[in-house]
Amino acid sequence: MRAYEGAPDGAMTTGKLITFEGGEGSGKSTQARQLAERLGAANISTIVTREPGGAPLAEKIRDLVLSDRPAAAVTELLLFAAARAEHIAVTIAPALGAGTWVVCDRYIDSSRVYQGDIGGIDKAFIRAIEQQTVTPWFPDLTLVLDVGAKVGMERAQARGGLTRFDAASLAQHEQVRQGFLDLAMAEKDRCVVLNGAEPEAEVAEAVWKAVTERLIATAG
Ligand code: TYD
Repeated sequence: MRAYEGAPDGAMTTGKLITFEGGEGSGKSTQARQLAERLGAANISTIVTREPGGAPLAEKIRDLVLSDRPAAAVTELLLFAAARAEHIAVTIAPALGAGTWVVCDRYIDSSRVYQGDIGGIDKAFIRAIEQQTVTPWFPDLTLVLDVGAKVGMERAQARGGLTRFDAASLAQHEQVRQGFLDLAMAEKDRCVVLNGAEPEAEVAEAVWKAVTERLIATAG
């Protein structure tokens, strides 16, 4: 867990929270699984989880929100936030508290980008919800897997997760990509951008390098 202004005393834990972010087809899920395996092999107790979801009620919210998209942007924001609050309470906080590392496929930055940049929800409102629902469980490290719109959409289409592949969806994918890049630039201490268009094994090496340099070398 990352220390932040106003964190309650005694909230520091030994587990680390690593999140993967990026657009559709960026390879997050594969990389999250591989990182968790590698951490496990290094004798670091680790769980891999995802958003929306990662806890029984949060998975139900996932079904609700993903089956009826697009809903009103504010509806989505609140449902993703509710799923996240549950995920933190049931899965993330207990794991980190027990010293287990948590690798999460999507987290707060997805809300900032999809509901903020794309949905047009006021950023201050999103941050206010975060303060009330996420605090103090901010990520120690966020890995942004960056892929161009065309590559990402081709991959998503190939695995059957995407039906639209038109100019409007390409433009939106590019907007999502830019949103993550802007966030990473604004929070360099927490975020690392990796080229998700490279072969899987190379991305995995870059992920491992970032994790060892940023977290393992400094873990005490
Ligand atoms: P998912 O099927 O998990 O796809 P992906 O492989 O892209 O992660 O779908 C998750 C979708 O939910 C994706 O379109 C991003 C969106 N999302 C939000 O809009 N806000 C959020 O806070 C989160 C966690 C996800």
